Amino acid sequence: MNWVTKMFSSSIGQKFIMALTGLFLCSFLVIHMVGNLQLFKADDGLAFNTYAVFMTTFPVIKFVSYVLYASIIFHAIKGLMLVSKNNKARPVKYAVQNGAANSHWTSRSMGILGTLVLVFIVIHMKNFWFEYKFGHEVGYTSYFTNIATGETGSRAMEAEYKQHNKIEETMVSSPDGQQYKIVVVKDLYKEVATEFKEWWLVALYVLCMFAVAFHLYHGFQSAFQTLGINHSKYNGLIKFIGIWVFSVLIPAGFAAMPIFFFFK
Ligand code: HEM
Repeated sequence: MNWVTKMFSSSIGQKFIMALTGLFLCSFLVIHMVGNLQLFKADDGLAFNTYAVFMTTFPVIKFVSYVLYASIIFHAIKGLMLVSKNNKARPVKYAVQNGAANSHWTSRSMGILGTLVLVFIVIHMKNFWFEYKFGHEVGYTSYFTNIATGETGSRAMEAEYKQHNKIEETMVSSPDGQQYKIVVVKDLYKEVATEFKEWWLVALYVLCMFAVAFHLYHGFQSAFQTLGINHSKYNGLIKFIGIWVFSVLIPAGFAAMPIFFFFK
């Protein structure tokens, strides 16, 4: 048995890979959050749509996306297996269950919290990722930017308009000699803005961000413990990032997006 097979089959090895995939998913969330901040720009979605094309067509990022999908699947399956193994190992509940004395409730609820996050990811990917890549609902918008003034306007294309690429850029001159950059791009921004006009979807997203917050409250710090990164010098920083970045800032930032579009 070589070390790779050993790693995948031993329970320590599996926890190790869960920690690594978990931290990789955390780093994805940071990038996803920063990228999605473009949704707040008052440019009718030009920056966000251009960013979405880059993220879905640049070869290195496309490759990282496949690693991401594999990580989500592995992390979810192994996590559920671990929960079921732990439950089987202790089939009879203690007569007096005083979990709070030994552990935080988030650590005892990682299975249910993780399942909620997984359900969210499935719904979320169906709404945006699937529609953008394979669906028929995402149309095209044409943006025209005056090169001299930087002013940008936009116009939605006909519903049945289709083009080979997600983005096409051209330069044109108007009769009065003004130069314009024309960008025709697949309008994912409009899809996001339209979806978040549904109050129940906004409510679902906001609720699911609590599950993300509580899952990461325990998960981020626990991953470092599993990897053996446990030193009084760094523990404070890891705890700070786990709580303030991953269980407050990131979920709150994501929750702000549907709320912003609902009231826009
Ligand atoms: C609530 C605010 C959020 C918004 C507005 C948003 C928006 C989007 C959009 C528009 C896409 C499709 C674009 C693409 O394929 O790159 C996408 C993809 C994705 N989102 Fe989100 N997202 C949000 C939160 C989240 C959260 C909290 C998670 C995870 C817990 C998540 C996980 C994913 C994944 C895994 C993909 C597929 C990424 C890929 O194909 O590389 N998103 N998101």
